[in-house]
Amino acid sequence: FHPFDVSDNGHLTIGGIDSVYLANKYGTPLFVYDVNRIRNNARAFVDTFRELGVRAQVAYASKAFSSIAMIQIAKQENLSLDVVSQGELYTALKAEFPVERIHMHGNNKSREEISMAVKNHIGCIVVDNFHEIDLLEQTLIDYNQRMNVLIRVTPGIEAHTHDYILTGNEDSKFGFDLSNGQAEEALQRLLKIDSIHVMGLHCHIGSQIFETNGFTMAVERLFQKLKDWKDRYQFESEVLNLGGGFGIRYTKEDDPLPLSHYVKALVNTVEESTQSCYMSFPEIWIEPGRSIVGDAGLTIYKLGAVKDIPNVRKYVSVDGGMTDNIRPALYQAKYEAVIANNVYGAHKEEVSIAGKCCESGDMLILDIELPKVEENDLLAVFSTGAYGYSMSNHYNRFPKAAVVFIENGQDQLVIKRESFEDMVQNDLSYELGGKNNE
Ligand code: LLP
Repeated sequence: FHPFDVSDNGHLTIGGIDSVYLANKYGTPLFVYDVNRIRNNARAFVDTFRELGVRAQVAYASKAFSSIAMIQIAKQENLSLDVVSQGELYTALKAEFPVERIHMHGNNKSREEISMAVKNHIGCIVVDNFHEIDLLEQTLIDYNQRMNVLIRVTPGIEAHTHDYILTGNEDSKFGFDLSNGQAEEALQRLLKIDSIHVMGLHCHIGSQIFETNGFTMAVERLFQKLKDWKDRYQFESEVLNLGGGFGIRYTKEDDPLPLSHYVKALVNTVEESTQSCYMSFPEIWIEPGRSIVGDAGLTIYKLGAVKDIPNVRKYVSVDGGMTDNIRPALYQAKYEAVIANNVYGAHKEEVSIAGKCCESGDMLILDIELPKVEENDLLAVFSTGAYGYSMSNHYNRFPKAAVVFIENGQDQLVIKRESFEDMVQNDLSYELGGKNNE
């Protein structure tokens, strides 16, 4: 069910390239992306808005996977870009992403972050809290500039993948609460600042969501407020940013909607709401991350030690783990995998895939049926394109993996594997107190 092919010799192929060849050429662990799939995912959103004749921006949430090559693809696909830090903004600027289509998020934007956004004339800052309003106002005075903002609000709907929790007073570190008057107070303050243009509202209800009703409930709640604010402040939202969170398939149990369905549901509800509130139709922005890159990427590992505990569990270890994919340890996330060099192999047995970090919880997959594993077999874990590389870390001083993009039957390295030297490059040798101890 994963969108990759298998060649006659039983090797997994990605965009027509043999995974075994890739592992030999670039080493393991290796992230491999099928760029066509990234483009198709992006186009599913962009094209649906276009077909519906709705003005829209599809902002790729670069936290899912940020790299210069990825940002270049987002640019080619006419996406906008959501960044949440100076590092993500820096990457976007390095990739020469059009600044007017960059939006900045964050619940604790620093003075430096806001200055960097202002200096570089990015398209919009999504204002998250009162402290930030003060910082932004001051920064705009310092630079004698103007800025477009969206107000991030918490509509009191939290999505837990399959169901939604309606919370009265939303307990969230993000955004202004819609129900306790804070969002309104933010609007009042922002409307008084001449250098700030309030384009509209933003909300994001959660991630890996498989249904549309959470989104439509959120839209309805936003419009309840917007109707009120139109009467009180003559404020109309030119833009409505409804966040990301569209679910993807990790395992057979996941049953995601086609991406176009989310867009249609959002557009329908906005249409109904604007009509019933006598408001004009806003530009709709969304911020998908996972649904653009998640299923376009996979990770190839080399298998190593096998520990068989009869009647308990057979542990098969890979040469990576929670350093390149922390999601199983952090969220009990589930994945599917195949033996990349022997996809249809016989003698299936149930094993569990262990990472190599010094941590019992570093298990990538519990209980998976695989052909009997042999030394130097390769394991391909699917749907690791989002929040895999981007959340990777240096635990146990494992160097970060390499990333390869495949397109038009060709492979290209887009992030080099880290060397040990890279890893110690910021370490300084200790110079205080050494003399006495020598
Ligand atoms: N917009 C906002 C304001 C967000 O906070 C997020 C994700 C997105 C957009 C993109 O959501 P997506 O379409 O990728 O679901 N590390 C977690 C996911 C954290 C998501 C944080 N915010 C994971 O690995 O599942």
